[in-house]
Amino acid sequence: MKAVKIRENIYWVGGIDWNLRNFHGYLTPRGSTYNAYLIIDDNITLIDTVKHYLYDEMLARISSVIDPSRIQTVISNHVEMDHSGGLPKLMDLIPNARLVTSPNGEKGLRDHFRENWNFSVVKSGDSISLGKHTLQFLLTPMIHWPDNMVSYCPEEKVLFSNDSFGQHIATPERFDDEISEGIVLEEAQKYYGNIVLSYNSQVQKELEAASQLDIKMIAPSHGLIWRSHIDKITDKYRKWAFNQTENLAIIVYDTMWDSTAKMAEAIREGFENRDVKVKMFNLKQFHISDIMTDVVDARYICVGSSTLNSNMLPPVSAFLTYLRALSPKARIGMAFGSYGWGGQSIDQVDEGLKLCGFELLEKVKAKYIPDQETLKAITSRIEKEI
Ligand code: FEO
Repeated sequence: MKAVKIRENIYWVGGIDWNLRNFHGYLTPRGSTYNAYLIIDDNITLIDTVKHYLYDEMLARISSVIDPSRIQTVISNHVEMDHSGGLPKLMDLIPNARLVTSPNGEKGLRDHFRENWNFSVVKSGDSISLGKHTLQFLLTPMIHWPDNMVSYCPEEKVLFSNDSFGQHIATPERFDDEISEGIVLEEAQKYYGNIVLSYNSQVQKELEAASQLDIKMIAPSHGLIWRSHIDKITDKYRKWAFNQTENLAIIVYDTMWDSTAKMAEAIREGFENRDVKVKMFNLKQFHISDIMTDVVDARYICVGSSTLNSNMLPPVSAFLTYLRALSPKARIGMAFGSYGWGGQSIDQVDEGLKLCGFELLEKVKAKYIPDQETLKAITSRIEKEI
């Protein structure tokens, strides 16, 4: 296996995870990559590692350029084990190497691996010289753990952005212009919705700092490297981070005897009659991590559940839990559902949407099977309220 040259004396030496289908609950049908980068200079430097089971692949790629034992500096931009899993074996090989990381990076790496490595702690604004290359550091806490930082090489104008700007795609290609633009942007949006969305205010700060840099390449820790669509992806990040939604409603529901599904259709008609685009997500068919891709764009989030044993249906509960944790802002929510006697599910969904911090439309309930008159009234109400 070979390294891929991405800039003069900078190489991609990561691992390709062809078989990954679930990244801590986030479905990854295209697999992923863990991107490590090697800088050849007076001080040979590796930026991040890979998941533990791809260590040999990373080492083989490094070995195609230099003897790995010559690495003098390792940058750990992020503690999470998809990027640090290869670190223990690597540090066994180069025990005296300098390990550059953020203050929380040092704490996290010590807590993970219980090793007394040669830590060199940096903060925002610090830089190190590798010879001809410099690396400048910017701490980006909570994108996506407290330890995250990004590294910028001004000579080659490369931002090593770690989790920011990533996508879960396993491909032999390394650059954004080598595969379909639609796929790379869609996977970047799914990644944003499932990994980054909670941290919009931190992304706003990162974008502000990045706007001061001359960037010709964004090299994230997952997926394709951005060199041709940098403006497009940074524009998208600006839109997403600043909670700019589209004229889109998503209707997410589960249903027992199709009554809640009928209500979902009536709600859909109301939105469509007001020229709002609608996407429908029956939770029996869609995974919550796929729905998050559209949550990123949606202004309206309608959630429906029938009542089962005095509760909402479990898939709806799972969706609301996941949604609340990812904390999209500036959305309008609406609860709906059918019931037989208690009808608790609709109140629970309404409460769940309230806990998300959404502005709420009045919840909609229908007893047993909604008749045509009831469905028409639901459609009319949506038309009036939006
Ligand atoms: Fe790709 Fe937060 O790790």
